[in-house]
Amino acid sequence: MDMKPIITEILNIAVKAPSGDNTQPWRFVVNKNIIFIHKRSIEGDSNWGNYNLLITHGTLIENINIAANQFGYSTELAFLPDPNDPTLTATITLQADSSIDTNLNESLFKAIKNRVTNRYPYKKQPLTSEEKTTLTSSILHTPNARVVFIEDKKTIRQISDSVVTQIKVFFSNKSLHEDFFTRLRWSKKSSEISSTGLPADTLALDPITILSMRFVLSFWPIMKFLNLFWFSSIIAMIEKWRRYNKSAAYLAFIVPKQEMTPITPLQAGQDVERIWLTASNIDLALQPTSAILLMEHAIMDKSGFPTSSDQNKLINESYLNIHKYCGASTDESVLWLMRVGHSTRVASHSPRKTPEITFIEN
Ligand SMILES: Cc1cc2nc3c(=O)[nH]c(=O)nc-3n(C[C@H](O)[C@H](O)[C@H](O)COP(=O)(O)O)c2cc1C
Repeated sequence: MDMKPIITEILNIAVKAPSGDNTQPWRFVVNKNIIFIHKRSIEGDSNWGNYNLLITHGTLIENINIAANQFGYSTELAFLPDPNDPTLTATITLQADSSIDTNLNESLFKAIKNRVTNRYPYKKQPLTSEEKTTLTSSILHTPNARVVFIEDKKTIRQISDSVVTQIKVFFSNKSLHEDFFTRLRWSKKSSEISSTGLPADTLALDPITILSMRFVLSFWPIMKFLNLFWFSSIIAMIEKWRRYNKSAAYLAFIVPKQEMTPITPLQAGQDVERIWLTASNIDLALQPTSAILLMEHAIMDKSGFPTSSDQNKLINESYLNIHKYCGASTDESVLWLMRVGHSTRVASHSPRKTPEITFIEN
């Protein structure tokens, strides 16, 4: 049977998965019923390292899984299957399977198209215990992982303090500043033409701020000058009060260090996607706030992350504070952090590139 049409359809749906700055760092090779998932190099990527990419690929893999099941195929996954090919993160083999109960995953499948990053301030309304249980019970893949909700206002503020360190670093580092602005798409049209990157309207900022970002802050010499007056720290503080403190909770995804293997970030990515799809189905808004965690891993990867030693120190302090305030023990690692809540504002969707698929026949 020719699997090309169904695999193309599955991949077209699966690439709705989230990716850092909507870079969509994946490409596919398909041999009959086997999908090979490869990393795709992207412009303006300051050596964020493998960890960031594996989490992203994990979210994509979960979408492929859910979509394949929905079309009546069971999946067999092999993670990092070829030590000689570091670009290959996974293979997924599809088998027609009449015993699959398509009702089981139907709601997650429908949510793939609706899931979105919501960067608006959220309502004060706390999460209900039913909502928390629904989110917690959606995780499936990462051995002994646990989900923690941080809801106490004071602790939310303390975590927000560490989360906004990412803004301080982004706006005081030339390479990261350049990456960010390279990936921003100012108009709907430019965003549709490139089909990758962050549409400015998804940042949930007012038009004046967007204009000043476009015509003033995007120029590094101006930013560098403003930083003489602690400008990045001031933006971080404003963002903390305007957005991050206005969350019903932070959701931390925590794994025991002794359970961690090279494939753990892929499994965590799968679970992150399941949490996000589930949240979307119960009308909860989510925004990843994991940049500090990802930066710490990028620094530890020694892959040439472009931060200075002072910035590394700041990132490390924030990383440790996130662990402390999320209640992780010294034997545990916080792999992912998101803010969560109820939002009155509907976030806009970011466009996707048509997936790059190479069909081969052996
Ligand atoms: C590994 C990873 C890291 C991300 N980090 C952030 C972040 O720090 N802040 C943020 O607002 N969104 C973050 N996102 C969300 C992406 O920007 C978002 O998924 C992408 O722009 C596509 O938009 P969508 O999720 O609405 O489809 C991250 C997503 C992934 C997968």
